[in-house]
Formats: sequence, C-alpha cells, structure tokens
Amino acid sequence: MWDIMVTGSNGLLGGFLIPLLRAHGYRVLATGRGPCRLPVEWFDEQVVYKSLDITDGMAVWSFIKDHRPAWIIHAAAITQADDCERDPVGCWMVNVTATRFLVDAARSVGASMLYVSTDFVFDGQNGPYKEEDAPAPVNYYGCSKLAAERAVMASGIPWSIVRTVLVYGRSDHQARSNIMTWVRDKLQSQTPIKVVDDQLRTPTWAGDLAEGLRLVVEKNARGIWHISGADLLTPFEMAQRTAGYLSLDTSLMTCVTADSFSQPALRPLKTGFIIDKARKALGYKPVSFEQGLELTLGKPS
Ligand SMILES: NC(=O)c1ccc[n+]([C@@H]2O[C@H](COP(=O)([O-])OP(=O)(O)OC[C@H]3O[C@@H](n4cnc5c(N)ncnc54)[C@H](OP(=O)(O)O)[C@@H]3O)[C@@H](O)[C@H]2O)c1
Repeated sequence: MWDIMVTGSNGLLGGFLIPLLRAHGYRVLATGRGPCRLPVEWFDEQVVYKSLDITDGMAVWSFIKDHRPAWIIHAAAITQADDCERDPVGCWMVNVTATRFLVDAARSVGASMLYVSTDFVFDGQNGPYKEEDAPAPVNYYGCSKLAAERAVMASGIPWSIVRTVLVYGRSDHQARSNIMTWVRDKLQSQTPIKVVDDQLRTPTWAGDLAEGLRLVVEKNARGIWHISGADLLTPFEMAQRTAGYLSLDTSLMTCVTADSFSQPALRPLKTGFIIDKARKALGYKPVSFEQGLELTLGKPS
C-alpha cells in the first residue's frame, strides 16, 4: 500500500512536491507521461517513478487497483491556456475525462483525491477571491479545470481541491522560464519588453504550493483551499521588482494593457487569492515575492 500517488510528476510542481513528500517520509508513487525527468537520486524503494498516461483509462484503472494508494494528488494537466483554446478536444481529454478515470479508480480502492486547480476558474472581475466565491471561467482551460473540480466534488469519494495562481520556481533539473527569468534574460540582453499592468495575481512559489498540498494531506483537510502567495501584484509590478532586485535597467520596460496582446485565450483580469482560510486552518505561510525572487534567481552578484 502506497501513501500518495502523484500525477504530472515531471512538471513544475512535481519537481518540488516529490522531494518534499520524500523528506516527510511518505511512500510515494510518482507518475508522469513517458520517462522520468526527475533526478534519479530521488528514487529508491520509498519513492518510485512509474510511467502513466492518464488518458489511458484501462491503464489508470489497473495501475490504481494494483498499487492501492491512500491519496492521489492529481497535478497533471494541459496547463497552457492558449494550448487548450487551440486544441479543446485534447484539453478536455486530459483535464476532464482523465480526471474522471482517476476518480473512478480511486473509488474502487477507497483512495482520497487531492485535485490541483487554478484561479482561471474565476472571471477576474472581482478578485482577489475566497474559496466560496462563484466560479465563472472566461477561457477553455478554466472551463476544463472547473468541470474537473465538479467531477471530483460529485465523485462520492473523500476529496480536497487546492486552487493556485501563477506558479514560479526553479529547480536544478528544470530550466522552465517564468516571469522572473524572462525579465532577467530580456533586460540583461538589453531587449525592450512590454508588460501588462491591468491584471492582478498573487504569484506562488512552487515550494509553497507543494507545502500547501502536504499540509492538506497531513491534516486530512477536506473541501476547497486557496493556496498562493500573499502579494497582490500586476505583471508590471512583478517585472519592476525583478529588475530592481537585479539592478537592471527599467527604462527598457513599457507597461501595456492586456488587450494590446492578441492571444487565443482570454485571461481573467483580476484574480489572486485571499488565503486566510489556509493560513488559519492549515498553518500555511507563503514566502514574500522578494523571498521568491531570491529562491528563484539566487542572490544578485
Ligand atoms: N503553473 C501555473 O502557473 C499554475 C497555475 C494555476 C494552477 N496550476 C495547476 O497546477 C497543476 C500543476 O501545474 P504545473 O505548473 O506543474 O504544470 P506543468 O509543468 O505543465 O506540468 C503538468 C504535467 O502534466 C503532465 N501531463 C500532461 N498530459 C498528461 C497525460 N496525458 N498523462 C500524464 N501526465 C500528463 C505533463 O507531462 P509532460 O511534462 O510530459 O508534458 C506535465 O509534466 C496543474 O493541474 C495546473 O492546472 C498551475
């Protein structure tokens, strides 16, 4: 019997979650699509990696029947909103249908489900949002994540949903770009950038999100939880703080409104989360944006 199965382990969150769960002594089944891209030293008899495509319903069913995890932390998704808009069928298959496969298999072995969701379930008219605010997604990604939330809530199995916002982080094995590294790289190469100043987010360090998920499991906390950073910032403010932290030339930055970009998926304007419930009930304590800068970019030289 395994303590926790994780889907999407090769992703940004997985790179923080798997070592954290390991450090807390859990027996972990890390799953991902295709081969493992995480460091081999994270794996032994306590933490194992298994390849699992969650859109293969029979494979999901037999995997969960064979391994009988107590919890499933379901992080795998098509996470790029524009990709979902371009390929709605593929998006629905991964984000919704596969979630149903996982829920059905979880029911058959009595597993609890912790589903990782997003601020994009909201329309961005009245952020920052509390857990009980009404979702109303404005793009296909948000619709698919909300449909998956509803499948989890209606499943009859013990469930928790953690929603999060604009996740960033750097781990040694992953060179994924985020707003901080994008600003650094552009300004260091003297490239002018345009940054939106009419959106609001509470950006989340991936280590905090991983810890929030761990706290939900440890406390067996049911229901919906908003887990994000605490600083409510526009992307332009994030870019300014990044440039200031690295003493880079801010005259290369121009602030623009979101409607000046033509992207396939509409973005909700003002999201961000009120995280009082997680602070009080889980003891969740996120880092500040400034601490996140140091954790992600290192100390400035
Ligand atoms: N990143 C954010 O800003 C953000 C914000 C709000 C909510 N979230 C939510 O947080 C969760 C984790 O996000 P993340 O940042 O870690 O995303 P990520 O880096 O894009 O990771 C998602 C993972 O899902 C995997 N996946 C996709 N299709 C799959 C399939 N058919 N079978 C198995 N695995 C599959 C991907 O595999 P490959 O690597 O092989 O493609 C990827 O490793 C997601 O549910 C996302 O919706 C993220």
